[in-house]
Amino acid sequence: MKISFISFIFFILLFTLHANAGFIIPNIVAYKDNLINLIFEKNVETDIKIPGSSSAKADVYYDKKDTKTLKPVVIFVHGGAWIFGSKYEYSRIGSLLVEEDYVGVLPEYVLFPRGTIDDMVNDIYNSIVWTYNNIQKYGGNKDKIILSGHSAGAHLIALTAFKSALRMKNQNDYMMELPKLEKMVLFNGPYDFDDYDISKLFVDMDIERGITERLVTLLVNSEDVSPTDVLKTAKDNSISDFGMPEIVVYYTGKDQLVPEFSASNLMKQIRRVSPNTTLKSVYKDSYDHFTVVMGAQTNNKEQNQFFMELINM
Ligand SMILES: *[C@@H]1O[C@H](CO)[C@@H](O)[C@H](O)[C@H]1NC(C)=O
Repeated sequence: MKISFISFIFFILLFTLHANAGFIIPNIVAYKDNLINLIFEKNVETDIKIPGSSSAKADVYYDKKDTKTLKPVVIFVHGGAWIFGSKYEYSRIGSLLVEEDYVGVLPEYVLFPRGTIDDMVNDIYNSIVWTYNNIQKYGGNKDKIILSGHSAGAHLIALTAFKSALRMKNQNDYMMELPKLEKMVLFNGPYDFDDYDISKLFVDMDIERGITERLVTLLVNSEDVSPTDVLKTAKDNSISDFGMPEIVVYYTGKDQLVPEFSASNLMKQIRRVSPNTTLKSVYKDSYDHFTVVMGAQTNNKEQNQFFMELINM
């Protein structure tokens, strides 16, 4: 039993809340199933405090019987429209990574309205630095870290990497360089907010309208919250790399939340600013916003395999 009774009660509460957020968590069974998986998972250490942020924590999934052989590491940042989501409900992805001989790091970042997008970027940045400095203790190879994220998580890792590469201001300080990563894998992220109706992201979410409106306003009106816009401020061929030699952009034809051109516009900017970065795009015509990640959450064999394929691109 890895989690306290209090946390368990908290899950149940969250679970009840999520039951109303039909669009973001279309499969409530998957959520409950991941909590149960977490309780019985032996190869995990939960809620590790991340220095440098008051709100960042991480769960590390690793083979406790073998921390000597260094394995590649996957950081997976969950989605949930910046308002919802918790690392616990993706525990099956952590377990999958251990089965596939990886170390999995699932960070938790502050959510809106408790934190702003800058605070989320700070949490993600510190989680990456923590992973680089500490993952060897868990049998992870710090020179083989793959950074991945889904939906809002993909948006946040891209924003963190680009703001860091451009040494932009975040909160009150200029961002520092990221540790060297192997690659970044982006799953179905929204990368720009002014060219489509982002309120779509919040359709059917039974949350206070005021919160949604404030978040939408923040996303549309702030200068440094869109990864695509951040790159637009940089000159052609001005960035040798973003702290990783390779970026994989995965997007889908049946995405009900994010239009295809969100990914293609981002890729255009990456190519222009950093032609030396290896950019791989993967497009699945018949898949939607949740197909792969939800598949991996529900332990679907085919989607587990596809998830790992994308990670290994
Ligand atoms: C990209 O690679 C080319 C060829 O090696 C090099 O001349 C150029 O300076 C590189 N661009 C950046 C921004 O590092």
